[in-house]
Amino acid sequence: MNLTTDERAILDGRDGTRKQQYMDWLVRWGDAMGATDLIPVTNVQTSGISAPGNLVPLDSDNVVRETLEQVWEFTAEPVSVPTFTHVARMTLDYPQQRQTPQVMVDSQSQVIDRARDAGINLTWTCAPYISGVVPTKGQICAWTESSAVVYINSILGARSTRNGSESAMAAAVIGKVPQFGALTDMGRFGDFIVDVDVPLLDPADWGALGYWAGEVAGLKTPVFVGLPSPSTVEAKQLSATLATTGGVTMFHIVGVTPEAPELSAVITDATRRERFRFGEQELTTAYQRVRTLRGSTIDYVVLGCPHASLEELQAIACLLHDRQVHDGVKLEVWTPYAMKALAQRLGYVSAIEAAGGRVLSDTCPAVSRVGQGHSMATPSFKQAHYAPGMLGAEVAVGTLQQCIDAALSGTWEANL
Ligand code: F3S
Repeated sequence: MNLTTDERAILDGRDGTRKQQYMDWLVRWGDAMGATDLIPVTNVQTSGISAPGNLVPLDSDNVVRETLEQVWEFTAEPVSVPTFTHVARMTLDYPQQRQTPQVMVDSQSQVIDRARDAGINLTWTCAPYISGVVPTKGQICAWTESSAVVYINSILGARSTRNGSESAMAAAVIGKVPQFGALTDMGRFGDFIVDVDVPLLDPADWGALGYWAGEVAGLKTPVFVGLPSPSTVEAKQLSATLATTGGVTMFHIVGVTPEAPELSAVITDATRRERFRFGEQELTTAYQRVRTLRGSTIDYVVLGCPHASLEELQAIACLLHDRQVHDGVKLEVWTPYAMKALAQRLGYVSAIEAAGGRVLSDTCPAVSRVGQGHSMATPSFKQAHYAPGMLGAEVAVGTLQQCIDAALSGTWEANL
């Protein structure tokens, strides 16, 4: 890599061993990816800034200590650019009902103080763009949540590669990232075309499209033709599933993605004109493929993957109005803490709680590895994809309305 005099001096240890290590990570990562330069980054979403929660047995003091030591290492240098955090490993909500060990509550409080002092904003969400962290077109970012990386590249026109905890922390402290992939003009062209020949009537249908297209794409960039402008909630589902079955960094929707006013703007090479069709059959098959639920009993409903927006919280509160979640069913809505605070003020949280549900922040079942049931209904293909392996749950995916109906009846009646 070509380094400036200043970058070389940091790599040589001028600013201490920790910055030297971060610069070394960035240079080695850039070398591996074929980058030639470091460029300034203006917005970072890092991860791993959290107590371990239920990810470790309580009697494994060493693991708890080692996890916190890593957090202390990550927060030893102040960040130099605006930095926010991916989800935590635990929630601080409903500690009594969830029997959260006091040692974890105390540890998380220490993490909050420590991160704040390092300049890190503990947003603890996988969907920062629904709670005020909204990068603009062309802005260079280093984000860790794969679905959010896809969202900001494809819907906002911002630029981020897919980062891990280490590269994001290095970017946050050094203020630079190696320029490759989606950070370059060349790395943002489409690789193949998907003609969407079926109306997508619900955000879950957009998740189904991404679930199917991610498998086709692998690491490539799909270009969707025939789609209307998605809502934030729909785009959230499409982004999440493309990064679930595939390793997609961005997609284009012709007429929607800022760089794709027309097909010819993003498909320029004749060899990239392979076309696929997503129709009724592919839509139905996606729902069938993700379903692992064998019977029709539901004891767990998970909403908010990626984290629920305020409009989703409002919709859930309305659907539950004056009704009661079925005995034995746990209904959870996961959202950023900022959205939960707004929803509390607006009465949505109390409405959901009055119906027997809970609104939780900072993490999710798949990441915290804390499930509340064995037979899950969710509108999220991503949560459904991971729940069997991470929570041991059987899952069915349907619309928000179908999932609320399942919460109220304890039964999965959707034909999916
Ligand atoms: Fe977010 Fe967890 Fe889904 S981190 S994207 S709610 S699996």
